[in-house]
Amino acid sequence: MQNMLQAPFLLEFCRILDHMYRLGWAERNGGNLSVMLDEGQIAPYLDTKQVLRTLPIRLNVQALAGRFFLVTGTGCYFRNMLHDPQGNCGILRVSPDGCSLQVLWGYEPNGAPTSETLPHLMCHLARLQLDPGHRVVLHTHSPGLLAMTFVHPLDGRSFTRSLWQLNTECIQVFPDGVGVMPWMVGGTNQAAEATATKMRDSRLVVWPHHGVWGAGSTIDETFGLVETAEKHAQLYLSIAHLPRLQHLTDDNLRQIATHFGLTVREGLLV
Ligand code: 13P
Ligand code: ZN
Repeated sequence: MQNMLQAPFLLEFCRILDHMYRLGWAERNGGNLSVMLDEGQIAPYLDTKQVLRTLPIRLNVQALAGRFFLVTGTGCYFRNMLHDPQGNCGILRVSPDGCSLQVLWGYEPNGAPTSETLPHLMCHLARLQLDPGHRVVLHTHSPGLLAMTFVHPLDGRSFTRSLWQLNTECIQVFPDGVGVMPWMVGGTNQAAEATATKMRDSRLVVWPHHGVWGAGSTIDETFGLVETAEKHAQLYLSIAHLPRLQHLTDDNLRQIATHFGLTVREGLLV
């Protein structure tokens, strides 16, 4: 067996979490990350027949049976990931009946995956049904998007438009817009289900007064998605108090969409 601590997928995972900590997106244990892995990726590093522990899940996710996930641990700090991966994250497999998670590696000595494991799995399921290349779900407490939820109306259409109007890049990076949830208690089945439902329409979902969820095909792409929304949320806040003289119009946005062949979610442009 090769050394798990040198597995490229684990190093990439820990590096991006460390980066998020340094950006100020991850106070204390704030945020969590899950990446779907193929058996071929992990087989050189662990015996997939050896289950260390089994943990129950509250909702059945049988559609993900047999899938492997690298997931951050609950209560774990992103800033500790690089120097202690096995204590701060782990590899799970969804059991054949979809009622439990099999720990194959990590969460040492007796930790557990994130308290948001359910919304992660349900978002994976929602996105996989739309895109077989989907792999990554990220939840983070990035401050700009979080701050925007105090001063901006909480509806996805106007939230999306406010970001799109600021930079021609925004509609290119998230042509499916941003979903905004009503406020709910995180960690509940209801919040998990509602987040996954929103994820069907937009790969970015904002949790008011809490944080944001992003989904994508790779860690870089998913991080870049959240990073683009977050940067423009900060830009929005930096000019929100000033008289607005101009911004990108719907006509401008439509021209960008046509030029780049974007599939823009219906109903977001006038
Ligand atoms: P965990 O430490 O359980 O991952 O929770 C962090 C968080 O951001 C909850 O929303
Ligand atoms: Zn959170």
